[in-house]
Amino acid sequence: MQYELVIKGGQVVSAAGTVKADVAIKGEKIVAVAEGLSGKKEIDATGKLVLPGALDVHTHFQLPFCGTVSADGFTSGSRAAALGGVTTFIDFAIQSKPATLMETVAARRAEADPKVCVDYGLHAGITDWNDERAKEIPAVIEAGLPTFKMFMIYKGQGWQSNDGDLYAALRETAKYGGMVGVHAENNDLIELLQSEADRDGLTGCYTHTITRPDITETEAIARAINLAEAAGGTLYIFHMSTGAAADILRDARAKGINVHAETGPHYLLLDDELFKREDGHHFATCPPIRKPADQAKLWERITDSTLEVLATDTCTFNSEQKATWNGDYKAIPFGMPGIEVLLPLTYTHGVGAGRFSVNHMVAMLSENPARLFGLEGRKGKIAEGHDADIVLFDPDLKHTISAETHATKCDYEPFEGIECTGWPVTTLLRGKIIVWDREFVGKAGDGTFLKRKPPVAIR
Ligand code: URP
Ligand code: ZN
Repeated sequence: MQYELVIKGGQVVSAAGTVKADVAIKGEKIVAVAEGLSGKKEIDATGKLVLPGALDVHTHFQLPFCGTVSADGFTSGSRAAALGGVTTFIDFAIQSKPATLMETVAARRAEADPKVCVDYGLHAGITDWNDERAKEIPAVIEAGLPTFKMFMIYKGQGWQSNDGDLYAALRETAKYGGMVGVHAENNDLIELLQSEADRDGLTGCYTHTITRPDITETEAIARAINLAEAAGGTLYIFHMSTGAAADILRDARAKGINVHAETGPHYLLLDDELFKREDGHHFATCPPIRKPADQAKLWERITDSTLEVLATDTCTFNSEQKATWNGDYKAIPFGMPGIEVLLPLTYTHGVGAGRFSVNHMVAMLSENPARLFGLEGRKGKIAEGHDADIVLFDPDLKHTISAETHATKCDYEPFEGIECTGWPVTTLLRGKIIVWDREFVGKAGDGTFLKRKPPVAIR
């Protein structure tokens, strides 16, 4: 039998193992994974790893934030994603009061739908929990957004939720199988430390670190976990940055509390000494990048599967936007690009450095996010019936990350100079080649909005 398209001779990787196999594709779907398949069209994958496309469940493209709008929009951001082997991203529809969640979702989809080059979903960002919001939950989940985000900070932005709001949302979403994610930092404590820094005349970039010590994250995470346990809800912690929080998470999961978490390459590979550089403000994000000891602990906790997901929190601000800080650390537009280098950095510093297997990498970048975010059975695996989102990855290709060559609309590169061994060369989205030999050959509109289901089997 001759299939439409066959990827031949590669090593097909899943969380469970690596096998030499061919992958047959019909239309948008994988229809067979076996040796000796033949196709009308064939792609030679000899010497390559055949990976499921990565999912980045935390991006902020075209986000109005900190007085500006993040520089990577849905097209440039998803193009960078495709080049980096990411075939699905999940962004946010963050409610701007008094708009409802459903109005916000419709508006965000109108912005994104025509522009995306890979598939995408949205988390619903709740900024004013009340009875009306509670009534919206089933409709929002039905619209394909079973995951929510609430902010324990950003009072000035009008985004902050209090503990009662968070508890009630955890309790309400649990009725429908939803999950609430949090940006966990203690706003009151940060404000106190900022006023003390003002008193002491501290304004420089390192003050971002001084005013956000570990306790500002660990306290908020412990509190959110307690609320989730009491409410019987499912909790997800976005952008975990501290080693101490990773240990809190390990203990909570050992107790059977339904809590899950991500960290990102910036927390694993960059540290707060960077804030002492002249361009230190380029690295400012919330929570801040931390210390080498935090990095070591986070690596440990992703290796032992306490942390189940790696995601980037891509929120690009170029140097002109970042320059508006004018020496005041509180005025820095917070965020950095990262989606394009998620996979090669994880491969180089995780697999290549001997920290974990390529199968563990696929669990963290593909299978776990698909399972936790309601895309199981469709995304995250190279298996019959799944979308043919496939990356041909050259494990020997060396590339030094640089602003000179990256695709993001950022004129600096947070991971500048890091040499990777292993790089994605070809990306297929639902059977269509969108990156060929490291050239983007897709277009805006190739991607589609993913109506996600309430996550299954999370615990
Ligand atoms: O500093 C960050 N992380 N900016 C993006 C918004 C958020 O908090 O995730
Ligand atoms: Zn956040």
